[in-house]
Amino acid sequence: MSDMIKRFIYHLRGLDAFFETKGTTGNVRGFMEQSECKALFFAAKSAPGDGVVVEIGSYVGKSTIWMAKALKARQRGKMYAIDPHTGDPYSDVLQNERKQFALGQEGEFRKNISDAAVQDVVIPIVKTSEEASVDFDKPIRLIFIDGIHEYDFVKTDFLLWSPKVIENGIIAFHDSLRPGVKRVFEELLYNSKSYELIGRVYYTSFFRKKGKRRFTDMMFDLRFDMIFPQYQGNKKIIAAALNFLAGIISLFIF
Ligand SMILES: C[S@@+](CC[C@H](N)C(=O)[O-])C[C@H]1O[C@@H](n2cnc3c(N)ncnc32)[C@H](O)[C@@H]1O
Repeated sequence: MSDMIKRFIYHLRGLDAFFETKGTTGNVRGFMEQSECKALFFAAKSAPGDGVVVEIGSYVGKSTIWMAKALKARQRGKMYAIDPHTGDPYSDVLQNERKQFALGQEGEFRKNISDAAVQDVVIPIVKTSEEASVDFDKPIRLIFIDGIHEYDFVKTDFLLWSPKVIENGIIAFHDSLRPGVKRVFEELLYNSKSYELIGRVYYTSFFRKKGKRRFTDMMFDLRFDMIFPQYQGNKKIIAAALNFLAGIISLFIF
């Protein structure tokens, strides 16, 4: 398919800037599947409301770059990338990978951000989530939680940061199927009056902090359904039809 047609379809699906981003994180190590990168990109670009984007656990910048590219494309402000760059003591995979970085994890992160030309929208905070939360006072419209995935850490991240999220803001978690993360969902999110699940893309779950539902929030959900056909939550006929259509189109694009 010619680039022009692809670009047009990306535009229709709200992923036009994604087209330029494709490949920019190709060599950046990380744990995000492509569909999850797209979903973060879409959320950073389209999550309604005024506020910044925050990431807990940036590693060497794969997820950071996707969100930053979206912010840059839409001039939607800056993002804060929080990571002590000390690694995850519970993950052998991560510890082994880290040993391969010539510049160390933080050096590698800064190099990747600079190579992707997003250093002007990414503000690194080299602290733990707990430390960074103490004096962080900006309203947040999207937060991506991907630090340590053990129950206590995920719960702490959620409890410390969710009060800073604006009404109708989005809270995304990576590795949703890990026991610690699932337990936090079951205890604090699934049956909560304050949060609702928007959908899950591969291992990343997206929740909304409930507020008065506006037209822009409904549009966000509808487009989320349309762009990410694997979404299994809301079975409305329209969403199913849009999913089907998006699925067919996706066959030709991804
Ligand atoms: C799974 S990795 C993040 C992956 C990254 N989002 C990506 O796209 O590749 C988890 C990261 O959490 C960081 N981390 C460890 N303890 C942390 C803490 N207390 N607060 C925030 N981040 C932490 C680690 O240094 C590691 O880089």
